[in-house]
Amino acid sequence: MLDRYKLSILLQGLTLFLLGPACEASSLGLTVHVVPLDSTGGKTVRAHFSAIAPIPCPSLSGLCAVGEDCLVHPTSLPFNGTKPNSGWCVRQWQKTVPSNYKATISLGSSTELYVSMNAEPNVRANSGRLNQPAFVALPPPLRARVNCPHHFHLSVKDLDGDKVRCRFARSDQGECIDCAQHSFMELNEEKCMLTFTGNAPAGQYFIYLMAEDLIPVPKTIQVKNNKPLSSVPVHLSLTVEESTTRCSDEPVAIGETPKEDTTLFSLPYQEVKLNINFMSELQSVLEVAVVGPPELYRFGFKTVGPLALMTMVWVRSENKLARLLPICFVANTESLQSEPRCVWLYQMLKCETTEMTLVLPVSSLTNINLNELQLNSPTCPVSYNNTHLTARISLNGCGTKAVHSGSELVYTNTLQSVRPYTMVSRLPSLVLPLACRIPGVQAKGPHYKIGMPSEKETFGAIRVWLELHMPGKGPLAKFTRIPEFRSHFLPGRVRRDVESPSESNSTSPTDSPFTGSNNITSTISTNSSSISPTNSPSSSITKRTTTVTTTASSGGVGSRIRQLDLHVMSNCSIDRAEMIVSNCIESETSDFTVSSPILDQGCTMSNSTLEIVTAKTTSKVYRLDLSNLEAQGSTMYVRCTVNLCITTLPSQKCPDICTRSFDTRAVVGSVYTSSYTISSGPISLVVTTAAPSTTTAVTTTKPTTTTATTTTTTATTAAASQTTTTSHGKMLSSK
Ligand SMILES: *[C@@H]1O[C@H](CO)[C@@H](O)[C@H](O)[C@H]1NC(C)=O
Ligand SMILES: *[C@@H]1O[C@H](CO)[C@@H](O)[C@H](O)[C@H]1NC(C)=O
Ligand SMILES: *[C@@H]1O[C@H](CO)[C@@H](O)[C@H](O)[C@H]1NC(C)=O
Ligand SMILES: *[C@@H]1O[C@H](CO)[C@@H](O)[C@H](O)[C@H]1NC(C)=O
Ligand SMILES: *[C@@H]1O[C@H](CO)[C@@H](O)[C@H](O)[C@H]1NC(C)=O
Ligand SMILES: *[C@@H]1O[C@H](CO)[C@@H](O)[C@H](O)[C@H]1NC(C)=O
Ligand SMILES: *[C@@H]1O[C@H](CO)[C@@H](O)[C@H](O)[C@H]1NC(C)=O
Repeated sequence: MLDRYKLSILLQGLTLFLLGPACEASSLGLTVHVVPLDSTGGKTVRAHFSAIAPIPCPSLSGLCAVGEDCLVHPTSLPFNGTKPNSGWCVRQWQKTVPSNYKATISLGSSTELYVSMNAEPNVRANSGRLNQPAFVALPPPLRARVNCPHHFHLSVKDLDGDKVRCRFARSDQGECIDCAQHSFMELNEEKCMLTFTGNAPAGQYFIYLMAEDLIPVPKTIQVKNNKPLSSVPVHLSLTVEESTTRCSDEPVAIGETPKEDTTLFSLPYQEVKLNINFMSELQSVLEVAVVGPPELYRFGFKTVGPLALMTMVWVRSENKLARLLPICFVANTESLQSEPRCVWLYQMLKCETTEMTLVLPVSSLTNINLNELQLNSPTCPVSYNNTHLTARISLNGCGTKAVHSGSELVYTNTLQSVRPYTMVSRLPSLVLPLACRIPGVQAKGPHYKIGMPSEKETFGAIRVWLELHMPGKGPLAKFTRIPEFRSHFLPGRVRRDVESPSESNSTSPTDSPFTGSNNITSTISTNSSSISPTNSPSSSITKRTTTVTTTASSGGVGSRIRQLDLHVMSNCSIDRAEMIVSNCIESETSDFTVSSPILDQGCTMSNSTLEIVTAKTTSKVYRLDLSNLEAQGSTMYVRCTVNLCITTLPSQKCPDICTRSFDTRAVVGSVYTSSYTISSGPISLVVTTAAPSTTTAVTTTKPTTTTATTTTTTATTAAASQTTTTSHGKMLSSK
């Protein structure tokens, strides 16, 4: 019988398909950042496009026609993601277009974008300069769940300091095509906040908005017709998924993750580093999806229990990008998504052939007396108004120094507070080194070497492996013989809802993944030599097999072993290093196609699996109660995912990842290795020979790809900017 539920999904799918464009799909997101061109009095603008398309990543050919002033950004590692649906990819390009522009743009062979914008020249009365339309940060494709209301805050900026308002695009104004509003999407126009009410069937929906900038007017003054200065398009997609988890279970950003809407100021060749930390109690984070400027380097994604860590680095090179650049990111799990978070990079120094131009928002210079700011030469003017500080720094004047560095010339100057000696002041002073390289050697994403210690430098060459022993036996027998136990059991976290929604209604209440294949495997081999190493999903893994002989507990041949000690071992010799075991699963087969959890996100799945306390922090031992395990056969295999951790402050401890009240300071104050997935060989669950010994194979697997190591500390040195920019590595930041 076809479930009514499934049928309705099928029907919705069909309806969506029929309502959509005949053949070409809409994009999954689009923003256009518009910069008016002074050279044409604003009649033409530079339009910076960012669009999200379903995978395969569409080709960039066809976006720029011959003779057009147009530039595509072919990045070596496009922004992409696996969620929702089958995945997506970001494409970026820029083009000079009329200020009043409508066009249908084909992105690859299967995505079509209709773009409409109005940025007609508008000379501002307050500055005499051309008005700059609003910038909106493009988030990765949005996800929500049926019956789970959700807010989506759009991050907006305006370089003129205007008020930004968002509204639904209007088809009667030619702003969009086929863009009926959805009853379940509400919009707070003033706050640019979208609200999903939850009352929508599963499916993918498209949202077409316009962002407008308006001259800010004090609330006390009633202005009848405060007409927007410009309107630019913002397209979003929302995928609504079925889910059985609670609405509050989404991953949340913690620790050092930059706050929403933060602006980070970047100088040429300066490295701006962002550490991203997410906490996801219910489901492991699959990816941190990002949309940002071309060649934003992302690396070191790893999960440690419920924690997910990633680092992004922006090394500013010569570029034709807009002055203000958004970076938005989300954490995706199998069925959940964190709130999107966006930060902005502000490129405050421009290098030209004869001068450098510094433009700095005054808001970034709090508690600094602007009158005291000087360049190397005090005669070179630094001017400022209410909003911006400006300096044009000649390369052969203003005290600018030129230094030969390899094949290039590096010009440097410094903006700093110069205070009369007689004045005693507690106000902080500013020292801002400025540098331009001509000609610049472009430092590009993946080829750029990040100045951070490698995993090997921090932890040494390490090996991690599993051993299973009879209770009280094995290398840590000293501790396991008379064991002291510690529990990592959180009853609330045991029953995890990770099934796909379509199955959730049909699985048996035991959650047993063993249904239908409970046949006992053939008699096990007692000789490890006949054991083939476990197949790990990654082929780039090296294996080593060793043999450990253990003594069986009392019980005759054929009787089941009731308890085993699982040793998760490492040979790390750093005293302060700690082993963190995130997940362990067991299976009756070496390919782990059907498995059940022993430990998940650092918590044991039953209250009878206990950690044995030892004095050796770089290894862990768990006493497994086999009567509680799902394995019914006579053999089982164990696979664990582990990291090693070192805290940056000796007084701290690495986080206990099986707690609800995580100490985020411990999380971010720690350095982790990449995740190692290690598997055991076959483990006999029955006593098989009259001799009082069973043999267990131990397989060690090591990830071979540990190229870039992330640390979550800020203590690491930023080597990149040594010759060029900051002397004290301080990043100015403001809200
Ligand atoms: C994203 O891009 C990288 C590099 O091109 C690729 O290795 C990865 O498989 C892509 N991911 C998806 C989901 O397409
Ligand atoms: C302040 O200076 C900046 C930079 O020169 C300029 O863009 C802005 O329009 C000025 N603002 C006012 C209010 O004059
Ligand atoms: C750990 O084992 C690996 C692989 O056998 C070896 O290269 C490394 O030197 C060992 N480390 C220590 C600290 O013994
Ligand atoms: C299964 O789904 C149907 C339709 O959605 C629902 O009426 C029923 O209560 C569900 N059964 C269980 C056990 O959840
Ligand atoms: C289980 O074993 C029995 C007897 O050996 C056999 O008849 C049956 O087909 C097996 N079932 C499965 C699912 O392998
Ligand atoms: C087990 O291995 C040993 C030595 O490798 C060998 O002598 C013995 O015959 C083997 N036993 C079985 C049952 O294969
Ligand atoms: C373990 O859990 C079971 C059932 O969930 C309970 O009956 C038992 O008392 C618990 N044991 C301990 C030591 O907490």
